[in-house]
Amino acid sequence: MNEQTQDIEIDLLLEAMFRKYGYDFRNYARASIERRILHQLSKSGLSNISEMQGRLLADKEFFKRMLLDLSINVTEMFRDASFYVAFREKVVPYLRAHPFIRIWIAGCATGEEVYSMAIVLQEEGLFDQTRIYATDINEEVLQIAKEGVYSLENIQEYTLNYQKAGGQKAFSDYYTAHQDTAVITPSLKTHVVFASHNLVHDAKFNEMHLISCRNVMIYFNQTLKDRVLKLFHESLCPLGLLCLGSKESVQFSAYENQFDPLIKDEKIYKKKGF
Ligand SMILES: C[S@@+](CC[C@H](N)C(=O)[O-])C[C@H]1O[C@@H](n2cnc3c(N)ncnc32)[C@H](O)[C@@H]1O
Repeated sequence: MNEQTQDIEIDLLLEAMFRKYGYDFRNYARASIERRILHQLSKSGLSNISEMQGRLLADKEFFKRMLLDLSINVTEMFRDASFYVAFREKVVPYLRAHPFIRIWIAGCATGEEVYSMAIVLQEEGLFDQTRIYATDINEEVLQIAKEGVYSLENIQEYTLNYQKAGGQKAFSDYYTAHQDTAVITPSLKTHVVFASHNLVHDAKFNEMHLISCRNVMIYFNQTLKDRVLKLFHESLCPLGLLCLGSKESVQFSAYENQFDPLIKDEKIYKKKGF
């Protein structure tokens, strides 16, 4: 099949997904979405993308499997330890100035980022005055996030990450081992609300002191990045903070001039005041 035909087929598949199920991947970074679709095609046993489109329209379970694959949910606890070191040193003092702290973690996947941040806030004595809104497009990963039950296999790596991130206790204080799983300690869930939210078209939040959206916009094209940065800009209070992933930036976006870098290397930005 030539490239142009494949391109048209992919456009039609994404359009079908949007019109039938309301999930809009049309402005995701093309190369990555194409790779995902072709990967899904090779697993499906179907012979081409048009056939896949027919299956997608007729079979909701097939769509759900595609959604899981397209939304890329890889994550870990204390991902990028240096980010959490900077968070403790520079972000915590900023948050401490507020009697009540509102944080939005957008694209939280299975919740490891949420519990990492909850641990830092608890160790810094700020968790009780915080409300974390943790959102994702994908209901299946949100369910895992809410349960907070992870494979024990990963705990060794997470323990190391936690220590590198400046953790002040034993990481084992934050979970109970049960068979081959680590169950997150219930106190870390007390100030967290998990909810479904699609950055492509859902509404803004109000007066957030901090938004963390790490390793999500990397999968978006520039049009969608700009739209999401607008949403974040509107959702933050004046001088609110925006944390992005290590490969993401507000630079070269339509919102570049609306934020100042607070910690450049860690992609932590401050919304400009009035
Ligand atoms: C690679 S994970 C990042 C998880 C975590 N933030 C981290 O840095 O480890 C990307 C997450 O973004 C979510 N996502 C993708 N598109 C989204 C959208 N339009 N709205 C909300 N979440 C989205 C995916 O479902 C996935 O869970």
